[in-house]
Amino acid sequence: MNLMRMTVIGTGYLGATHAACMAELGHDVLGVDVDEKKIEALKNSTVPFYEPGLPEVLERNIAAGRLAFTTSYDEAAAFANVHFLGVGTPQQRGSYAADLKYVYAVIQDLVPKLKGKHVIFGKSTVPVGTAAELQQMANELAPEGTEVEIAWNPEFLREGFAVKDTITPDRIVLGTRDENTTAEEVAREVYATPLASGTPFVITDLQTAELVKVSANAFLATKISFINAVSEVCELVGADVVKLADAIGYDDRIGRKFLGAGLGFGGGCLPKDIRAFMARAGELGADQALTFLREVDAINMRRRDRMVTLAREACGGNLLGHNVTVLGAAFKPNSDDVRDSPALSIAGSLSLAGAQVTVYDPQGMENARKVFPTLNYANSTDDALRGADVVVLATEWQEFRELDPVHAASLVRVKKVLDGRNVLPVDAWKEAGWDIKALGRSL
Ligand SMILES: NC(=O)c1ccc[n+]([C@@H]2O[C@H](COP(=O)([O-])OP(=O)(O)OC[C@H]3O[C@@H](n4cnc5c(N)ncnc54)[C@H](O)[C@@H]3O)[C@@H](O)[C@H]2O)c1
Repeated sequence: MNLMRMTVIGTGYLGATHAACMAELGHDVLGVDVDEKKIEALKNSTVPFYEPGLPEVLERNIAAGRLAFTTSYDEAAAFANVHFLGVGTPQQRGSYAADLKYVYAVIQDLVPKLKGKHVIFGKSTVPVGTAAELQQMANELAPEGTEVEIAWNPEFLREGFAVKDTITPDRIVLGTRDENTTAEEVAREVYATPLASGTPFVITDLQTAELVKVSANAFLATKISFINAVSEVCELVGADVVKLADAIGYDDRIGRKFLGAGLGFGGGCLPKDIRAFMARAGELGADQALTFLREVDAINMRRRDRMVTLAREACGGNLLGHNVTVLGAAFKPNSDDVRDSPALSIAGSLSLAGAQVTVYDPQGMENARKVFPTLNYANSTDDALRGADVVVLATEWQEFRELDPVHAASLVRVKKVLDGRNVLPVDAWKEAGWDIKALGRSL
């Protein structure tokens, strides 16, 4: 049974997942993007990025006739009266603020083509006030007799768990305008399945919904940087940040999640979202409220520098001519996303400092090559380890966590490993003869 018709505009990590999962819930979905290559791939049931479980959902729903893709805004406008907007909102060049040009372009290209009553649900992460601004734009662009409502429905999916998070989210947040709104009624139909199973549904005004998303990311970033700041102190006094995190994590007001000390956060969301939040607060005259996020950002970047320092020390004070193996390129495991990736950032720094850097990542190689074409890329973990003077574990893929230290020892030139994610079993590595160092611990 096809329940509702909808478009999803912008079919990147968020949009392609949303489109496929809405079809999985039984809806009739048209995914729209300006990137012809991406749309061609999706039409052929190929997910243009790595996301576990998504290829199956995509294929199944295309085959069932519930999911199609196009680059045509004319088709999109004629297809449905419900539209999800999931285009990118990257950091602006030369500023902390979010670049909203893709979001504006969707409204400019879509709204003049609409007829009748439409609801556009924004899912992109945007600065507070954007939805109201888009409503204004839509009012001006809508043809005579057409009515467009803008609502905000922020997305909380985690790459690596995107399908599960979209089909069974831990909450649904919807911001609607004050008057003349049908968005809640429409959203209840769209999300009927998760709502029926008791998913919390938080209905707010537009500005609260926008702020929920950036606040959630700012909180998560702060939690990670908190433990990494403590980690810096641990390093000075020989304390163990992992045991410390375990101990404070038992307090359920604190919780152990996101207290993994290490190379810190990266990716296409947290770094740009906390910066855009600061920039927006500044525009609103509340700069002081969020200056702590500047520190959160700085702590996070310092961990990358610290890792480069540790690698230099491991090479006797000079990286020139040494072989450094970096395990990981994606910003986190189970993703091929290398946007603002700590792993690639340190690989790049080590290379610029004169090291011969070899990188291996189970999924992120193609994207990494595009960002840093000058690094050496290995075909496998073994290949990457061969001849290494120091090994840096930079992304905690299961494959790296489970690496056999005895076998690894037989491949490298010097048995030195730097655990940037605090995930290796230290005793086993020591027993195999490795000199192991980690962030926030004296081992
Ligand atoms: N990736 C995540 O895990 C995640 C999670 C929650 C929220 N978000 C937010 O979702 C938004 C999208 O993020 P993403 O990671 O999917 O980005 P992305 O870069 O992977 O995808 C954005 C897509 O929008 C397309 N696009 C650009 N302009 C367009 C236009 N005018 N019409 C149609 N398509 C257009 C691009 O071609 C691209 O495919 C961002 O605001 C991000 O902060 C992302």
